[in-house]
Amino acid sequence: MIRSAIVPVAGHGTRLLPATKSQPKEMLPVARKPIVQYVVEELVANGIEEILFVTGRNKASIENHFDSDPELTRVLHAGNKKDLLAELEFEELEAHFFYTRQRFQRGLGDAVLCGQNFAGEQPVLVALGDSILGLHAQSKAVSRMAKLFEDKRASCIIAVEEVPWEDVHHYGIMDVIPSDGDSLRVTRIIEKPSREEAPSNLAVAGRYIFSPLIFDMISRVKPDKRNEIQLTDAIQMLCEEGKRVLAMKLEPDERRYDIGNFPSYFETFVEFALADPQYGCEFRVSLEKLLAKGK
Ligand code: G1P
Repeated sequence: MIRSAIVPVAGHGTRLLPATKSQPKEMLPVARKPIVQYVVEELVANGIEEILFVTGRNKASIENHFDSDPELTRVLHAGNKKDLLAELEFEELEAHFFYTRQRFQRGLGDAVLCGQNFAGEQPVLVALGDSILGLHAQSKAVSRMAKLFEDKRASCIIAVEEVPWEDVHHYGIMDVIPSDGDSLRVTRIIEKPSREEAPSNLAVAGRYIFSPLIFDMISRVKPDKRNEIQLTDAIQMLCEEGKRVLAMKLEPDERRYDIGNFPSYFETFVEFALADPQYGCEFRVSLEKLLAKGK
C-alpha cells in the first residue's frame, strides 16, 4: 500500500489570471467544491493517509479549507442547518495534512524535492493539485498504480493518457514499449516537446508513484532554460539508469480533468455541474436554452 502523497500546489497559476491573482488556482471551484478537495477525496478513497501540500505565498486558504472552523459549525448547528453541516463532512476525512513551502518557484521537480524528508524511505504518490481524475473524482487509478508498483517492483509508475498531437507541447511525453499485463515500459520521457520531437502522444496525467530513488535523481537534474528543475528530467534519469519506469493508461471514465487553463477549466466546470445530483437537471435545461439562443 502507498500511504503518503505529495501534492504540489505552489505554482502561480498565471494561465488563469486574473482569477488567480490573490487565490490559489487549486481553490477555484468546479461546480460545488474547490479543485483541491476533489484531489484529496480521490487520494483518501485510494488509501492515502498522509498528505503533504507543497505550498507557496498566497496559498493559506488551502490550509484553512482543510482545517475545522468551530465558529461556522456553531452557527450552522444553532440554525439547525443539517444539510449545510453535511457539506462540511469532508473535514472528518481520515487523512493527516502537512504543509511545507517551496520558497522559490524552481519547477515541479524542486517542489517534489521539498517532500523528501516527509517521504523518508517509503514509496510516495505525487498528485498534481490542478488535476482531477474522473468525473467528481471517482477514480481508482491510484490503487491500480500502487498494485502495479508492488507487483512489478517498479521504481516509478506514471498515469498516462493519449492527448491530441497538437497538444503534446503542454505535457511530459514518453516513448514506450509493451510490457506484460496492462502496463507499458517507459524508455524515454521529454518535457513539453514540439510535435516533431514528440516520440508519441502519451502524456503524463498528473499522478506518479516513486521509490525514494527519485529524490537523488532530482538533486542531480540541471535547471532548464527557465531555471526550473523538471520532474520529467529526473524520471528520464531513472530510465537511463535502467530502472523500471512503467506507464499505466487511465480508463476512459477516469480521464484527467486539467484545471490549469481556461478552456479546460470551463469545460470541466460545466461537465461537473451537469452531473450534480441536485442541480444538474435544472442546469441542463438552462444550458440548452442558452445554446438554442446562440443558433
Ligand atoms: C506538469 C508536468 C507535465 C505533465 C503535466 C500534466 O506540467 O511537468 O509533465 O504532463 O503537469 O500532468 P504543468 O502543467 O505543471 O506545466
